[in-house]
Amino acid sequence: MMKKDEINRYPDIPGWLADEEGELLYRLAMECKDGEIVEIGSWKGKSTVWLAEGSRAGRGLKIHAIDPHKGYDGKSTLKEFKDNIARAGVGGMIIPVVKTSEEAAKGFSKPVGLIFIDGSHEYNDVKKDFELWFPRLVDGGVMAFHDTLGYDGPRRLVNELVYKSRSFRNVRLVNNITYAVKAENTFPDRLRNRLSLLIKRLREMAIRKKG
Ligand SMILES: C[S@@+](CC[C@H](N)C(=O)[O-])C[C@H]1O[C@@H](n2cnc3c(N)ncnc32)[C@H](O)[C@@H]1O
Repeated sequence: MMKKDEINRYPDIPGWLADEEGELLYRLAMECKDGEIVEIGSWKGKSTVWLAEGSRAGRGLKIHAIDPHKGYDGKSTLKEFKDNIARAGVGGMIIPVVKTSEEAAKGFSKPVGLIFIDGSHEYNDVKKDFELWFPRLVDGGVMAFHDTLGYDGPRRLVNELVYKSRSFRNVRLVNNITYAVKAENTFPDRLRNRLSLLIKRLREMAIRKKG
């Protein structure tokens, strides 16, 4: 496995991903054995590069990087995305899919082993991402969501549909990413997931207090 300073060779790619979160994505991609690796919401490629670096250290699975690239200011982010992944030396590992999550899901028939969801943060949109992609995830595959502490949409979605679900084991929070393994869970699994949710809610309260 590469050392931390070797992995994060392009800290100048803009984005909101913390190094700790990037290292998590690297590890999850490296450990992904079955199925495709999918990212919803790539923006300028920061998280995509971490996923690609991790996958390269593992099975070398390509990353389907799904984003309509319309840009927050109406200016396309596609060129900057492509330049950044090429500069990071992982262009060949990434399949840019210039579509919304919904459009991409329609033509996607392969099973998914890892999915990182960081697209629209509106509750109904994250829920749609969940509903579209959960059935495509293999048993034992991992679903990860960004911004699950401070942003209401992803925060509520994972609290309702991941931490309390009967279909996930080992729900964890690293910085702002909640991730979990898809698997029918047992009563002790559910207790552990509920304890993790309790701890997460304490962190949410602390964030709200800070204002
Ligand atoms: C927070 S940014 C992603 C940041 C990126 N993951 C990173 O670490 O730098 C959100 C991205 O989601 C994209 N997006 C918004 N709605 C989407 C949708 N329905 N499907 C796919 N991507 C979407 C936006 O175009 C934007 O580039």
